[in-house]
Amino acid sequence: MRNIVVLTGAGISAESGIETFRGAGGLWEGHAVEDVATPEAFARDPGLVHQFYNLRRQQLLAGIEPNPAHVALARLEREFDGEVLVVTQNIDDLHERGGSENVIHMHGELLKSRCVSCGEVSECRHDLTVASECPRCHAVGTPRPHVVWFGEIPLRLPEIERALIAADLFIAVGTSGRVYPAAGFVRLARAHEARTIEINLEETGPGGAFQESRRGRAGEILPDLVGSILARDA
Ligand code: OAD
Repeated sequence: MRNIVVLTGAGISAESGIETFRGAGGLWEGHAVEDVATPEAFARDPGLVHQFYNLRRQQLLAGIEPNPAHVALARLEREFDGEVLVVTQNIDDLHERGGSENVIHMHGELLKSRCVSCGEVSECRHDLTVASECPRCHAVGTPRPHVVWFGEIPLRLPEIERALIAADLFIAVGTSGRVYPAAGFVRLARAHEARTIEINLEETGPGGAFQESRRGRAGEILPDLVGSILARDA
Protein backbone atom coordinates (compact mmCIF):
# COMPACT_ATOMS: atom_id res chain seq x y z
CA MET A 1 0.00 0.00 0.00
CA ARG A 2 1.46 3.35 -1.10
CA ASN A 3 -1.20 6.05 -1.17
CA ILE A 4 -3.72 7.06 1.47
CA VAL A 5 -6.30 9.82 1.07
CA VAL A 6 -8.29 10.94 4.10
CA LEU A 7 -11.38 13.11 3.61
CA THR A 8 -12.44 14.96 6.73
CA GLY A 9 -15.59 16.89 7.60
CA ALA A 10 -17.02 18.86 10.47
CA GLY A 11 -17.27 15.73 12.66
CA ILE A 12 -13.49 15.54 13.10
CA SER A 13 -13.50 19.00 14.68
CA ALA A 14 -16.60 18.38 16.80
CA GLU A 15 -14.57 16.97 19.69
CA SER A 16 -12.52 20.18 19.65
CA GLY A 17 -15.71 22.10 20.32
CA ILE A 18 -16.62 23.33 16.84
CA GLU A 19 -20.27 22.69 16.01
CA THR A 20 -21.06 20.59 12.98
CA PHE A 21 -23.30 22.06 10.29
CA ARG A 22 -26.12 19.58 10.29
CA GLY A 23 -26.15 18.25 13.84
CA ALA A 24 -28.46 19.45 16.59
CA GLY A 25 -27.66 23.11 17.13
CA GLY A 26 -26.15 23.26 13.64
CA LEU A 27 -28.11 26.38 12.90
CA TRP A 28 -26.65 29.80 13.39
CA GLU A 29 -29.17 32.18 14.95
CA GLY A 30 -31.92 30.48 13.03
CA HIS A 31 -30.07 30.50 9.69
CA ALA A 32 -29.31 27.24 7.94
CA VAL A 33 -25.67 27.33 6.80
CA GLU A 34 -26.92 27.29 3.21
CA ASP A 35 -28.53 30.67 3.92
CA VAL A 36 -25.37 32.41 5.05
CA ALA A 37 -22.75 30.54 3.05
CA THR A 38 -23.73 31.65 -0.45
CA PRO A 39 -22.60 34.43 -2.82
CA GLU A 40 -26.24 35.57 -2.92
CA ALA A 41 -26.32 35.97 0.87
CA PHE A 42 -23.08 37.98 0.72
CA ALA A 43 -24.48 40.23 -2.04
CA ARG A 44 -27.71 40.71 -0.10
CA ASP A 45 -26.29 41.27 3.37
CA PRO A 46 -22.48 41.25 3.55
CA GLY A 47 -22.56 42.44 7.17
CA LEU A 48 -24.48 39.35 8.25
CA VAL A 49 -22.19 36.98 6.40
CA HIS A 50 -19.10 38.73 7.81
CA GLN A 51 -20.60 38.42 11.28
CA PHE A 52 -21.15 34.68 10.81
CA TYR A 53 -17.52 34.11 9.83
CA ASN A 54 -16.16 36.63 12.35
CA LEU A 55 -17.77 34.62 15.14
CA ARG A 56 -16.38 31.36 13.81
CA ARG A 57 -12.91 32.93 13.47
CA GLN A 58 -13.01 34.41 16.97
CA GLN A 59 -14.05 31.03 18.35
CA LEU A 60 -11.25 29.23 16.47
CA LEU A 61 -8.66 31.65 17.83
CA ALA A 62 -9.97 31.53 21.38
CA GLY A 63 -8.88 28.26 22.81
CA ILE A 64 -9.99 25.66 20.25
CA GLU A 65 -7.33 22.95 20.04
CA PRO A 66 -6.76 19.93 17.80
CA ASN A 67 -8.00 16.64 19.25
CA PRO A 68 -6.63 13.07 19.14
CA ALA A 69 -8.16 12.49 15.68
CA HIS A 70 -6.16 15.36 14.15
CA VAL A 71 -3.04 14.21 15.96
CA ALA A 72 -3.53 10.63 14.71
CA LEU A 73 -3.68 11.80 11.08
CA ALA A 74 -0.48 13.77 11.57
CA ARG A 75 1.16 10.65 12.97
CA LEU A 76 -0.03 8.66 9.95
CA GLU A 77 1.54 11.20 7.59
CA ARG A 78 4.81 11.21 9.53
CA GLU A 79 5.23 7.47 10.00
CA PHE A 80 3.55 5.86 6.98
CA ASP A 81 5.99 4.68 4.34
CA GLY A 82 4.11 6.29 1.45
CA GLU A 83 1.91 9.30 0.65
CA VAL A 84 -0.78 10.54 2.98
CA LEU A 85 -3.01 13.38 1.80
CA VAL A 86 -5.67 14.97 3.99
CA VAL A 87 -8.47 16.59 2.00
CA THR A 88 -10.60 18.58 4.38
CA GLN A 89 -13.94 20.28 3.95
CA ASN A 90 -13.19 22.15 7.17
CA ILE A 91 -12.13 25.75 7.15
CA ASP A 92 -10.41 25.56 10.56
CA ASP A 93 -6.66 25.06 10.87
CA LEU A 94 -6.78 22.12 13.29
CA HIS A 95 -5.11 19.64 10.92
CA GLU A 96 -2.11 21.94 10.57
CA ARG A 97 -2.00 22.62 14.30
CA GLY A 98 -2.25 18.86 14.91
CA GLY A 99 0.89 18.42 12.78
CA SER A 100 -0.38 17.49 9.30
CA GLU A 101 1.49 19.11 6.43
CA ASN A 102 -0.04 17.62 3.31
CA VAL A 103 -3.48 19.18 3.60
CA ILE A 104 -5.88 20.48 0.96
CA HIS A 105 -8.62 22.80 2.20
CA MET A 106 -11.15 22.22 -0.56
CA HIS A 107 -13.66 24.63 1.04
CA GLY A 108 -11.08 27.30 1.85
CA GLU A 109 -9.67 28.65 5.10
CA LEU A 110 -11.23 30.76 7.79
CA LEU A 111 -7.90 32.42 8.64
CA LYS A 112 -7.54 33.85 5.15
CA SER A 113 -9.38 36.57 3.26
CA ARG A 114 -9.59 37.14 -0.48
CA CYS A 115 -10.04 40.46 -2.25
CA VAL A 116 -12.91 40.26 -4.74
CA SER A 117 -11.26 43.06 -6.69
CA CYS A 118 -7.60 42.04 -7.09
CA GLY A 119 -7.80 38.39 -5.97
CA GLU A 120 -5.14 38.73 -3.27
CA VAL A 121 -5.36 36.03 -0.61
CA SER A 122 -4.09 37.28 2.76
CA GLU A 123 -3.75 35.94 6.24
CA CYS A 124 -6.73 37.09 8.29
CA ARG A 125 -6.92 36.74 12.05
CA HIS A 126 -9.18 39.74 12.57
CA ASP A 127 -12.84 40.55 11.97
CA LEU A 128 -13.87 41.52 8.45
CA THR A 129 -16.47 44.24 7.87
CA VAL A 130 -17.89 46.09 4.90
CA ALA A 131 -15.24 48.74 5.68
CA SER A 132 -12.25 46.36 5.55
CA GLU A 133 -9.46 47.32 3.17
CA CYS A 134 -7.50 45.02 0.88
CA PRO A 135 -3.84 45.04 2.03
CA ARG A 136 -2.67 44.89 -1.59
CA CYS A 137 -4.92 47.06 -3.79
CA HIS A 138 -6.35 49.09 -0.90
CA ALA A 139 -9.90 48.85 -2.20
CA VAL A 140 -12.45 49.18 0.58
CA GLY A 141 -15.12 46.56 1.26
CA THR A 142 -13.58 44.03 -1.10
CA PRO A 143 -12.01 41.46 1.26
CA ARG A 144 -14.27 38.44 1.79
CA PRO A 145 -13.67 35.23 3.71
CA HIS A 146 -11.48 32.87 1.65
CA VAL A 147 -14.06 30.14 1.90
CA VAL A 148 -16.03 28.29 -0.73
CA TRP A 149 -19.73 29.02 -0.62
CA PHE A 150 -22.60 26.95 -1.98
CA GLY A 151 -22.68 27.47 -5.71
CA GLU A 152 -18.91 28.08 -5.91
CA ILE A 153 -16.35 25.58 -7.13
CA PRO A 154 -14.23 23.84 -4.47
CA LEU A 155 -10.50 24.45 -4.59
CA ARG A 156 -7.83 22.18 -6.10
CA LEU A 157 -10.25 19.58 -7.45
CA PRO A 158 -7.97 18.27 -10.25
CA GLU A 159 -5.25 17.54 -7.69
CA ILE A 160 -7.76 15.81 -5.41
CA GLU A 161 -9.07 13.67 -8.25
CA ARG A 162 -5.57 12.54 -9.19
CA ALA A 163 -4.92 11.54 -5.58
CA LEU A 164 -8.21 9.62 -5.37
CA ILE A 165 -7.46 7.72 -8.55
CA ALA A 166 -4.05 6.74 -7.14
CA ALA A 167 -5.33 5.92 -3.64
CA ASP A 168 -4.99 2.41 -2.20
CA LEU A 169 -6.91 3.41 0.90
CA PHE A 170 -9.58 6.08 1.25
CA ILE A 171 -10.86 7.04 4.70
CA ALA A 172 -13.73 9.48 5.29
CA VAL A 173 -13.98 10.91 8.80
CA GLY A 174 -16.87 12.88 10.27
CA THR A 175 -18.64 13.93 7.12
CA SER A 176 -22.34 13.53 6.43
CA GLY A 177 -21.86 12.87 2.73
CA ARG A 178 -24.51 15.43 1.83
CA VAL A 179 -22.37 17.95 -0.02
CA TYR A 180 -20.92 17.25 -3.45
CA PRO A 181 -18.38 16.85 -4.91
CA ALA A 182 -16.80 15.57 -1.66
CA ALA A 183 -19.66 13.12 -1.17
CA GLY A 184 -18.72 11.44 -4.46
CA PHE A 185 -15.03 10.92 -3.64
CA VAL A 186 -15.66 7.46 -2.20
CA ARG A 187 -17.08 6.26 -5.50
CA LEU A 188 -14.14 7.56 -7.49
CA ALA A 189 -11.62 5.99 -5.12
CA ARG A 190 -13.52 2.70 -5.12
CA ALA A 191 -13.81 2.65 -8.89
CA HIS A 192 -10.01 2.72 -8.89
CA GLU A 193 -9.69 -0.18 -6.45
CA ALA A 194 -9.11 1.66 -3.19
CA ARG A 195 -10.18 0.06 0.06
CA THR A 196 -12.73 2.43 1.63
CA ILE A 197 -13.44 3.05 5.31
CA GLU A 198 -15.82 5.46 6.94
CA ILE A 199 -15.65 6.74 10.51
CA ASN A 200 -18.79 8.46 11.75
CA LEU A 201 -21.00 8.63 14.81
CA GLU A 202 -23.96 7.48 12.74
CA GLU A 203 -25.15 5.94 9.51
CA THR A 204 -24.55 8.50 6.74
CA GLY A 205 -26.96 7.46 4.07
CA PRO A 206 -28.38 4.59 2.13
CA GLY A 207 -25.16 2.72 2.84
CA GLY A 208 -23.00 0.57 0.66
CA ALA A 209 -20.71 3.34 -0.54
CA PHE A 210 -17.96 2.32 1.89
CA GLN A 211 -16.66 -1.22 2.31
CA GLU A 212 -16.22 -0.70 6.05
CA SER A 213 -18.02 1.56 8.48
CA ARG A 214 -16.78 2.25 11.97
CA ARG A 215 -19.32 3.88 14.23
CA GLY A 216 -18.13 6.12 17.02
CA ARG A 217 -16.11 9.19 17.86
CA ALA A 218 -13.26 10.03 15.51
CA GLY A 219 -11.00 10.88 18.45
CA GLU A 220 -11.38 7.34 19.76
CA ILE A 221 -11.47 5.31 16.54
CA LEU A 222 -8.86 7.06 14.44
CA PRO A 223 -5.85 6.62 16.76
CA ASP A 224 -6.49 2.85 16.78
CA LEU A 225 -7.04 2.67 13.03
CA VAL A 226 -3.82 4.61 12.40
CA GLY A 227 -1.97 2.29 14.79
CA SER A 228 -3.16 -0.78 12.90
CA ILE A 229 -2.35 0.71 9.47
CA LEU A 230 1.18 1.52 10.65
CA ALA A 231 1.61 -1.92 12.25
CA ARG A 232 0.64 -3.60 8.96
CA ASP A 233 2.91 -1.26 7.03
CA ALA A 234 5.92 -1.93 9.26
P1 OAD B 1 -21.93 17.87 8.56
O1 OAD B 1 -22.29 18.74 9.71
O2 OAD B 1 -22.91 17.75 7.43
O3 OAD B 1 -21.69 16.40 9.07
C1 OAD B 1 -20.87 16.12 10.19
C2 OAD B 1 -20.82 14.62 10.34
O4 OAD B 1 -19.92 14.31 11.39
C3 OAD B 1 -22.14 13.96 10.68
O5 OAD B 1 -22.35 12.87 9.80
C4 OAD B 1 -21.95 13.47 12.13
O6 OAD B 1 -22.61 12.24 12.38
C5 OAD B 1 -20.45 13.29 12.19
N1 OAD B 1 -19.85 13.45 13.53
C6 OAD B 1 -20.16 14.35 14.49
N2 OAD B 1 -19.35 14.25 15.54
C7 OAD B 1 -18.49 13.24 15.26
C8 OAD B 1 -17.39 12.63 15.97
N3 OAD B 1 -17.02 13.05 17.17
N4 OAD B 1 -16.73 11.61 15.36
C9 OAD B 1 -17.11 11.16 14.14
N5 OAD B 1 -18.12 11.70 13.42
C10 OAD B 1 -18.81 12.71 13.98
O7 OAD B 1 -20.49 18.35 8.05
P2 OAD B 1 -19.73 18.08 6.68
O8 OAD B 1 -20.04 16.74 6.12
O9 OAD B 1 -18.31 18.45 6.91
O10 OAD B 1 -19.56 23.45 3.29
O11 OAD B 1 -20.40 19.19 5.77
C11 OAD B 1 -19.94 19.36 4.48
C12 OAD B 1 -19.99 20.80 4.06
O12 OAD B 1 -21.29 21.33 4.26
C13 OAD B 1 -19.13 21.74 4.87
O13 OAD B 1 -17.80 21.77 4.46
C14 OAD B 1 -19.77 23.04 4.64
C15 OAD B 1 -21.17 22.61 4.92
O14 OAD B 1 -22.18 23.40 4.59
C16 OAD B 1 -19.55 24.73 2.94
O15 OAD B 1 -19.67 25.62 3.76
C17 OAD B 1 -19.35 24.95 1.46
